[in-house]
Amino acid sequence: MRIPFIAGNWKMHKTAAEARAFAEEFKALYKDTDVKTAICAPFVHLALLKEAFAGTDIKVGAQNAHFEDQGAFTGEISVKMLEDIGVDYCIIGHSERRQYFAETDETVNKKLKKLFEGPIVPILCVGEVLEERDAGREKEVVGGQIRADLAGLSADDVRKLVVAYEPVWAIGTGRTATPEQANEMCGYIREVISELYDDDVACDVTIQYGGSMKPANATELMAMEEIDGGLIGGSSLKADEFMQIIDF
Ligand code: 13P
Repeated sequence: MRIPFIAGNWKMHKTAAEARAFAEEFKALYKDTDVKTAICAPFVHLALLKEAFAGTDIKVGAQNAHFEDQGAFTGEISVKMLEDIGVDYCIIGHSERRQYFAETDETVNKKLKKLFEGPIVPILCVGEVLEERDAGREKEVVGGQIRADLAGLSADDVRKLVVAYEPVWAIGTGRTATPEQANEMCGYIREVISELYDDDVACDVTIQYGGSMKPANATELMAMEEIDGGLIGGSSLKADEFMQIIDF
């Protein structure tokens, strides 16, 4: 059975003092819930958040990692470094990384393989841009990303995967996909995974929706059958707002 999973993606926001203040406020608001919860923060805040959330069910995620173990890769962070500080999740292939930092399906695939060597659970982001949706190509695009990103991964690994469907036109725009649009694509992603593996694996994969998800629309999105959770940008920056989404 899939457990609802709401994760915040802070992107490039917050100083250390702001991250600490969020953690204290969020811990005070956080109630025991059946919803899995994580904050994916900038690298420099991961250790402090792990410490702040120790003894709670609140998990911590990174927003990227390199696919090599170590080496001359100035500015990069390895999976081992993240494991070492107890990071639980790692976002891979966010559209902002694909768009601004030359992330490709090939590097995404390598990163997923590296993460699956250890305990950190990847949150794989996929999604089409507006022109692709307007041209009716959204399934072709997202299906293509899933096939390329998962190439060579075992069924046992994919079972543990979290996929976030984030239509690029809905990110930070205030323009949310309708629950039906989001549900249809999440269902389609499950279909493609079923084709690549089997129904059983597809049924285990947690699929989140991301893109202008907020307290006002979380209930209707989370009510959809194929949507197991949310990857929340802007609305995860304020503890009370993020908590309202978890309380959907
Ligand atoms: P917003 O919630 O700010 O639209 O961002 C979504 C997102 O990109 C999460 O990864």
